[in-house]
Amino acid sequence: MLDIRVEKTATPKDLPKADNPLKFGTIFTDHMFVMDYDIENGWQDARIIPYQPISLEPSAMVFHYGQEMFEGLKAYKTEDGKTLLFRPDKNIERANKTNRRICIPEIPEEDFLQAIKEVVKLDESWIPTKPGTSLYIRPFVIATDPFLGVRPSDTYKFMIILSPVGAYYPEGLNPVKIWIEDDYVRAVKGGIGDAKTGANYVASLKAQVKAHDEGYSQVLWLDGVERKYVEEVGAMNIFFKINGTIVTPVLTGSILPGVTRDSVINLCKSWGLPVEERRISIQEIHEAHQNGTLEEVFGTGTAAVISPVGQLRWEDTIMKVKDGGIGEYSQKLYDTITGIQLGKIEDNFQWIVEV
Ligand code: COI
Repeated sequence: MLDIRVEKTATPKDLPKADNPLKFGTIFTDHMFVMDYDIENGWQDARIIPYQPISLEPSAMVFHYGQEMFEGLKAYKTEDGKTLLFRPDKNIERANKTNRRICIPEIPEEDFLQAIKEVVKLDESWIPTKPGTSLYIRPFVIATDPFLGVRPSDTYKFMIILSPVGAYYPEGLNPVKIWIEDDYVRAVKGGIGDAKTGANYVASLKAQVKAHDEGYSQVLWLDGVERKYVEEVGAMNIFFKINGTIVTPVLTGSILPGVTRDSVINLCKSWGLPVEERRISIQEIHEAHQNGTLEEVFGTGTAAVISPVGQLRWEDTIMKVKDGGIGEYSQKLYDTITGIQLGKIEDNFQWIVEV
């Protein structure tokens, strides 16, 4: 058990007003969790302190070679005042998988969970309660050695910051338009595509800007070798409903293993829907669209929850899905997942952890 020192802010900020749309990732709570690592002492000096800037040497390795990991999960307030987390164990497990991949020392799972719970508890008055809102939790680790050679750092900082959020996309639950990228690639098998590290997101920016310029909100990546198989959207995993079957790309090593992805697979199976995790070519999607069997497309992610896709653009082909409207399963999955997260629907999978 961590001994977490707590220093409360002397100047609490005003909570966001009820009509604040809580634009994703723009507002931060009063406190943050910090813990340091060095080779002699391991992870040590766990503390919750007022949210504030941090001071690092300009030579800190994170600035030069990007050795950093992050996670994203959410806390919710129930109508009877409980604070709930959704599957934090999955995020913690994935965080340590990322850590192993990019040579960051692992964080003991029980310490990680305790840190999340304690900082969320302290700032629980910041958890918004309007439909579609939650408290986004962003744990991350950065390499702090002041050194310009390329090797794993010997020192790190682990932090958790909290942000009350509304929908990730301005569209909310309205369908998004997605650009299928066949020029740039996001990741390749054997690389770091299945690790949650900033490098994957910076790799996505160029195509994202291109897609935005064309009026599309996100990029759907194809595999980096054959440029043929659908992978993920960067901020989301992707699902298709084709002729009654839910199909999602199998995790081949270049796709992020999403917690919402796993939850959707479990829910769909529990509803008796056939679910296939397999390679799926963009040609197959095109054919399903042409023969009328492409019934729904949606993205899944912690920030985005369920995001229906109303349009896909692949080269010169525009594929409209559900006439641009929300599909039955996109809506049902959104309602079920948010219902479980808010303690309104029975949690048959033991996904909820109370703070
Ligand atoms: C999340 O869904 O939590 C993510 O980390 C995606 C991020 C791009 C907001």
